[in-house]
This record gives sequence, C-alpha cells and structure tokens, in this order.
Amino acid sequence: MRVDVFTLVPHAFAWLTEQQPIAGVLGRELELRLFNYRDTTPLRAGQVDDEPYGGGAGMVLRVDVVAAALDAVYGGPPAHRVVALSPQGGQLTQEVVEELAKETHLTLLSARFEGFDERIVEHLCTDSLSIGPYVLSNGDLPAMVLVDAIARRLPGALSEGSGELESFSAELGGRLEYPHYTRPAEFRGWRVPEVLLSGDHARIESWRKEHVR
Ligand SMILES: C[S@@+](CC[C@H](N)C(=O)[O-])C[C@H]1O[C@@H](n2cnc3c(N)ncnc32)[C@H](O)[C@@H]1O
Repeated sequence: MRVDVFTLVPHAFAWLTEQQPIAGVLGRELELRLFNYRDTTPLRAGQVDDEPYGGGAGMVLRVDVVAAALDAVYGGPPAHRVVALSPQGGQLTQEVVEELAKETHLTLLSARFEGFDERIVEHLCTDSLSIGPYVLSNGDLPAMVLVDAIARRLPGALSEGSGELESFSAELGGRLEYPHYTRPAEFRGWRVPEVLLSGDHARIESWRKEHVR
C-alpha cells in the first residue's frame, strides 16, 4: 500500500517511521511518501494560506495551493481516495481503518490554523475524517494516527493472531478486549485472577470470553 501525506512539516513524521510496527512494514507492505505544500505552491515566498473571506481570525489553506500539490504529484485528479483530516469529518473508527487498509493507494491532507478552504474538501477530496471530537493545532498528528492504525493492519505488521482479537475488532463484536496480566502474580496484595495461573486452557478461554467488555 502506498500512503502519500501532504503537510507543511514532513520532518515531523520521522519519529513515526522509526516506531514499530510501521518501521517493520516500511519499504515492504507500506510505502510512505511525504510532500510539502510549499514545494509546489504557485504563490510567492512559499505562501500556502490566506485570510478568510468575510473576515475573522486565522488563516485558511488555499485551494490553488492544494490543487497544485496534487497536480504536481499525480498530474491531475488522483484515481484513489483523498482524505482531508478535519475535526468536521466523519469519525475515524476501527471499521473505517479496516476499510482504508484494503486500499492500494491513499492520500492524506493535513491543514493548520483555521483549516481548509471548503472547496478543497468538496472538490479535491473523496473523504474527510476526524480522529475525535476535539480540536488539535494541525492535521499532522491525525495523519500519523491514521497511518499508524492502517500500518498495523497490513500483512506482516503484527505477530500472528495479535491483530485479530483486539478491542473494536469484528472478532470481538466491536467490544473491548479482556484484561491482561503479567508477572509478578502478586504485587502489593493485588493478585492476578487465579484462573490465569491455572494452566487450564479451557477455563482461561472461557474467563477471557466472559471478560470481553
Ligand atoms: C485548528 S484545526 C481547525 C479547526 C477548524 N477551524 C474548526 O473549528 O473546525 C487545524 C487543522 O488541524 C487538523 N485537525 C484538528 N483537529 C482534528 C481532528 N480532531 N481530527 C482531524 N484533524 C484535525 C485539521 O487538518 C484542521 O484543519
């Protein structure tokens, strides 16, 4: 899968690319390309945003700047999905992640300040996604959240089985995974449930099923 991210701070993604499981699938199942709107802006001095029509605070990412960036990379409107990261978009859920992880090519657009000129979302994007009902300063963390969530669903990202029985998965009916414990078996009087120490796999399995939340 190829994911292209358009941003003003490509270097911010360096941290993400060093983390597992992304580092493990980069260059294999995942190709991540980063593009800076400033490199292709048709405006002078690297300008990418402008004052809002009608007045008010903040700056808005210009439609001609985003169109120029997409044209430079794809030579016209891309045939694949283009996602604007926006608090006004549809909510990102595990179901949406699973759906996007099946795409072969995906483009993510990040904005800052007041956000996108609405024509970008209307005419240059196929989707608009929010990572939650709160406002962040820019779309780079949301883009990283989406890349991380997608990357861990790609073949070979996780060890066998660990990606299927997870919170929000279809296998758990969208519910939350059972609790996990590790050594020590007792700490400050807090004991691990006895059944998990029993070695009785059938009992452990049914305890886990009961504790899916
Ligand atoms: C400060 S926000 C703009 C908020 C916008 N003026 C509003 O009130 O809806 C700047 C940019 O950060 C990104 N962003 C902020 N919160 C987000 C969220 N919850 N999900 C996805 N992107 C978000 C988007 O790219 C957004 O355009």
